[in-house]
Amino acid sequence: MEGVGGGLGLSLLLCIETSCDDTSAAVVEIAAEATTIRSSIVSSQHEFHAAFGGVVPEVASRRHTELLVPAVAAALADAGAGWDDLDAVAVTTGPGLIGALLVGLAAAKAIAYARRLPLTPVDHLQGHLAAAYALGVEAPFVCLTASGGHTLLAVVEHGVEFRVVGRTLDDAAGEAFDKGARLLGLPYPGGRELDLLAAAGDPAFVAFPRSLPRGFDFSFSGLKTALLYYLRDHEGEVEIEARRASIAASYQEAIIDQLVSKTVRFAEQEGLRRVAVGGGVAANSRLRRRLTDACEQRGLEVFVPPVALCTDNAAMVGLAARYLEPLAWPHYLSLDAYAAEPALGEPRRRP
Ligand code: KG4
Ligand code: ZN
Repeated sequence: MEGVGGGLGLSLLLCIETSCDDTSAAVVEIAAEATTIRSSIVSSQHEFHAAFGGVVPEVASRRHTELLVPAVAAALADAGAGWDDLDAVAVTTGPGLIGALLVGLAAAKAIAYARRLPLTPVDHLQGHLAAAYALGVEAPFVCLTASGGHTLLAVVEHGVEFRVVGRTLDDAAGEAFDKGARLLGLPYPGGRELDLLAAAGDPAFVAFPRSLPRGFDFSFSGLKTALLYYLRDHEGEVEIEARRASIAASYQEAIIDQLVSKTVRFAEQEGLRRVAVGGGVAANSRLRRRLTDACEQRGLEVFVPPVALCTDNAAMVGLAARYLEPLAWPHYLSLDAYAAEPALGEPRRRP
């Protein structure tokens, strides 16, 4: 199904994403043959949350209200676009932090209503998996989406319609990175810090357990506990202090083994030849390398979006909006945000 771009020819979209702690705005051009990212602004709030060691929802909402207007202005300026050039607005409506989402949604509604434009609500997970479209992937493809809140293995059947085949039974992969980083004494946001530290380490230094739940589900909470016990058992040892990079690399490897092995096994089993990845964890340098190698070894075509399209950003909202029906002016005014992903089989909410 083609949305904004399909019937209308060329459209210029203002896209907004505020589901967590990144205030993002982008201008994306949808044409019949391709979607072009004209600008993408991400105002990270990390410095405001670092003191708390994690995202504080109330702080995130307040910062979005301060940062969103300048982010939108910068996205328009970078794209060389004015308000009159816009044809539609697209915005993430969930899942995520409800207060944070509402800031982006209220702004998107206000802009769209004032300009008499249609508005496209976009699911955050659909945004993450649409990032691969920037590389020209064609559906159907297997997509591993791993972020701070979700770990999903899915088949993208067409556009941004997906069928979930595996999900985490406990912590999300990003949570495993963040909790591991915290145990290793790394600053927030932990995933990227752990990635950097691990780069200098030996991934075979500690044989952390590989939990392999049945089918294509994932599990990371046992691994986190194994790291906790390992560090407790070796506390104060000089050797251990010197090998922190290797402990980080071993922990990271256990997460990545699970993600990569299940993804390629599923693709092979289903006979799907295209594999993509998305979400903040897909920014991980080791995961990018290992997934690419594993796919190439098996003759699978792999799509690893640029880091800026993996971590939260508004350009992916535009990439997804291409495939979604916009709501006509002014029928989106009662549209609500949602914190949790709808249960399997339940429709995504529309007003
Ligand atoms: O998609 P995202 O930006 O926000 C959510 O939707 O949650 O993902 C954030 C997650 C965090 O857990 C963060 O630590 C992780 O992605 N992350 C990484 C890296 N960069 C971000 N994890 C591992 N290595 C990285 N380089
Ligand atoms: Zn995300």
